[in-house]
Amino acid sequence: MAVSDFPDVRLHVVTGKGGTGKTTVAASLALALASGGKRVLLTEVEGRQGIAQMFDTPPLPYEERKVAVAPGGGEVYALSIDPEMAMLDYLHMFYKLSANGVAARTLRRIGAIEFATTVAPGLRDVLLTGKVKEAVVRPAGGRGRARPSGYAYDAVVLDGPPTGRITRFLNISSEIGGLAKVGPLKTQSDGVMEVLRSPQTAVHIVTLLEEMPVQETIDGAAELAAAGLPVGGVVVNAVRPALLHPADLLAAEAGTLDRGALTAGLEKAGLDAPDELVGMLVAEAGDHAVRMALEERGRDALADLELPSYELPQLSDSVDLAGLYELAALLSAQGLAGAGEAA
Ligand SMILES: Nc1ncnc2c1ncn2[C@@H]1O[C@H](COP(=O)(O)OP(=O)(O)O)[C@@H](O)[C@H]1O
Ligand SMILES: [Mg+2]
Repeated sequence: MAVSDFPDVRLHVVTGKGGTGKTTVAASLALALASGGKRVLLTEVEGRQGIAQMFDTPPLPYEERKVAVAPGGGEVYALSIDPEMAMLDYLHMFYKLSANGVAARTLRRIGAIEFATTVAPGLRDVLLTGKVKEAVVRPAGGRGRARPSGYAYDAVVLDGPPTGRITRFLNISSEIGGLAKVGPLKTQSDGVMEVLRSPQTAVHIVTLLEEMPVQETIDGAAELAAAGLPVGGVVVNAVRPALLHPADLLAAEAGTLDRGALTAGLEKAGLDAPDELVGMLVAEAGDHAVRMALEERGRDALADLELPSYELPQLSDSVDLAGLYELAALLSAQGLAGAGEAA
């Protein structure tokens, strides 16, 4: 197993343009981090039950559930964090209010919970990130066996909001500033911010080699850095292999492929090579070459970010459980996860 590029990171936040594979990468990263006997919590905050779908389990309750066993005996737990439950959790932690008790029922009835979780977005984000932070700093013991790391979870992975919203979501101190200058909420938000801005956290950005996601990756990395949030790596997902040699790619793009050689190749393979077929193949090679050139430009633009970068192949079909393990192994081999310092 490769040495990890992020040995000190315990909170891995995964963002990216919608549909680029955030949930897929978060799930495979959790598996990779759990490899070799670690315990990892995979969380989501947008109530989509994407994790449950990914691991083919029933919808997750507001409770940490084991969803997978990692290579070498590690475990992946999952939690779908819901703002209302996070609010009740918070009230319980700070005011010892029981979620099913009279006080909580009253708060619900008068709309206080709804107010806090839907009307005040800054407050909602503090509740969500607060729950994530609680899982990151939770000491071992009490719940489950003691861990060598001293923490209940060796690492936490957050399948985060998309690039367009991630900085605001994580930069809660600026949002909460207007809501609370002192008091428990301010203390809570400061505590969360301290973890998010620390070397314990890394925000990874998932992208495809297409114009829009690449641009969002570049913009997102700049926004995160400007807010003092630690940008981790770039995961280039669903990469397709180049089907032609570089010289042939150039010729295909320029429309100067050697038709004679193509015809000869087809005939050598025992295939009929009518002009029509050769013409279609030349056109297809041209499309392929144009796409490869676009991808190459995307790679160049991403390289300018000078961030650690990782590539995952386009798997045939959508990603099933076996696919997740395959992607996890590739992330480990490239060092996004892997053997840290002493575990
Ligand atoms: N490397 C890949 N190869 C093939 N299909 C992929 C790959 N990564 C993601 N997908 C598929 O793309 C779709 C979107 O992925 P998902 O992880 O849900 O994206 P997001 O969370 O960013 O919306 C899913 O159907 C998923 O199975
Ligand atoms: Mg998703």
